[in-house]
Amino acid sequence: MSTDGAELRGVADEADVADARDDLFEPVSEWWLSGTPLEPEHHRLMRRRLVPIPWAESTAAALSPAERGRLAETWTRRAAAEYLAVSTFAVLAIDLVAAGAPADVLSLCMRAGIDEVRHAELCLRMIEIYGGKRVQPPPGMSSLPDDPARPKLFQALANTMLVSCVSETYATTVLTATRDLTTDPVAHAVLTSIYSDEVMHARLGWSYLRYGLERGGQGAIDAAAAMVPIALRGVANVVERERPVGEVTEAVRGHGLMTPAEERVIYSSCVREVLVPGFEALGIPCGSAVQDYGDQWAHAA
Ligand SMILES: [Fe+2]
Ligand SMILES: [Fe+2]
Repeated sequence: MSTDGAELRGVADEADVADARDDLFEPVSEWWLSGTPLEPEHHRLMRRRLVPIPWAESTAAALSPAERGRLAETWTRRAAAEYLAVSTFAVLAIDLVAAGAPADVLSLCMRAGIDEVRHAELCLRMIEIYGGKRVQPPPGMSSLPDDPARPKLFQALANTMLVSCVSETYATTVLTATRDLTTDPVAHAVLTSIYSDEVMHARLGWSYLRYGLERGGQGAIDAAAAMVPIALRGVANVVERERPVGEVTEAVRGHGLMTPAEERVIYSSCVREVLVPGFEALGIPCGSAVQDYGDQWAHAA
């Protein structure tokens, strides 16, 4: 008994230490909070996988106003995308629950949504650094293809491919490449923090895809194959999208920004070297995907 008591005291002490440590952390984007007693628990959730960001070491002050404006606009778009991704994982979680997905798939999907809240917070702080403004992400929500007539497993599989296998896998490849050219310590740490989560968001999709294909037979393969061109086009639309005004100078690159032309090349190689081989290894035919996003598309910008 006394041992148990000591262990319990030890646990309580550890909890006290954790609480004390909680007080050492500042909210990342304090203006995007409710002002209610939810805040401390929110901070605990946001610090689940702590990558320290050396906020005070930003080199943004050395940039020209035009360069800072270009970066503020880019982080504004990133904030909006990360915020929308919160709803994407919420909708995907509904599909997964409807399909009777395993508990680990469900918990990781819900956690991915929490990760996206943190990503949005980080982006808002970056907007403040470059643009001097404290903004909040624009309200909105993403929708996923919904066909009530088809088996729930097929819908969950197809939407997991779209959200996780294609979008998140591309996110990891473009984040890696962007991080490699980033010299600013704050931008580098923020991109690293986001990257470390996106890897798990992609892994969630590939794992569930294999699980679902093993159980869903030919119907699951057909549903997955039908999603391949739709999912690839979805990300291509983002890569092709018009960019904010302003030159991507060498200094801007050092703060974590590539040119649209570079992103096309990265997406093309992601399709050819990662996505299509991954899908085909699971028995999903990919049609003309490699040609569709081949050299011609990669160098069209
Ligand atoms: Fe994210
Ligand atoms: Fe993500």
